[in-house]
Amino acid sequence: MTSLSWTEELTLHQPQIDQTHQEFIALLDELSQTLKNAPDDCNSALPVYRRFLAHTEDHFAMEEGFMAATGFAPDNCHSKQHAMVLDVMRQVMAHTLAEQDLEPMRNLLPELANWLPAHVDMMDAALVFHMKQVGFDPATGRMAQPPEPAAAAISSCGSKSCA
Ligand SMILES: [Fe+2]
Ligand SMILES: [Fe+2]
Repeated sequence: MTSLSWTEELTLHQPQIDQTHQEFIALLDELSQTLKNAPDDCNSALPVYRRFLAHTEDHFAMEEGFMAATGFAPDNCHSKQHAMVLDVMRQVMAHTLAEQDLEPMRNLLPELANWLPAHVDMMDAALVFHMKQVGFDPATGRMAQPPEPAAAAISSCGSKSCA
C-alpha cells in the first residue's frame, strides 16, 4: 500500500533526526501491513496507529525543541506544517474511533508516504543546515556560534519554498 523505504537520499546526517525518520517509515510500513492483513479490523489497526501518532508527536516536538533552542520563533512555518499534519492524524483517529471505519486511515498512508520525503528535503534539511551553522549540540543544548543576541527570531523554515 505504501512504497516508502529508507534511502540515502533521506539522510540528513543528524543522528537523532535520521533515526526518527527511519522509525517513522517503519511505523508507516507496520500500519500498512496491518491494514493489508486485516482490512476491516479496527482492533488490529488502532494500537499501531496510536503508536504511530505518539511517535509523530514526539518526532515533531523534538525538531521544534531544536528550533526553539537555535533561535526560531514558535510560529515558524515548519512548526505550522507539523501542526497541520498532526491535526489530520488526530482527525483520522477520532473518525476511526467514532465510526469504526478504516477508510480515512487507509487513504492517509500514501499521503504520508509522499509527504515525508518532501518535508525532509525542504524543512528538516533546512533545520539541520541551520543547526550546523550555529554549531548546535543537541546533547548539551549549546551553540558554538550562536546568532547575535539582537538577531530577530526566525519565522521562516529556511527552505526554498519559504523564501
Ligand atoms: Fe522530521
Ligand atoms: Fe519537520
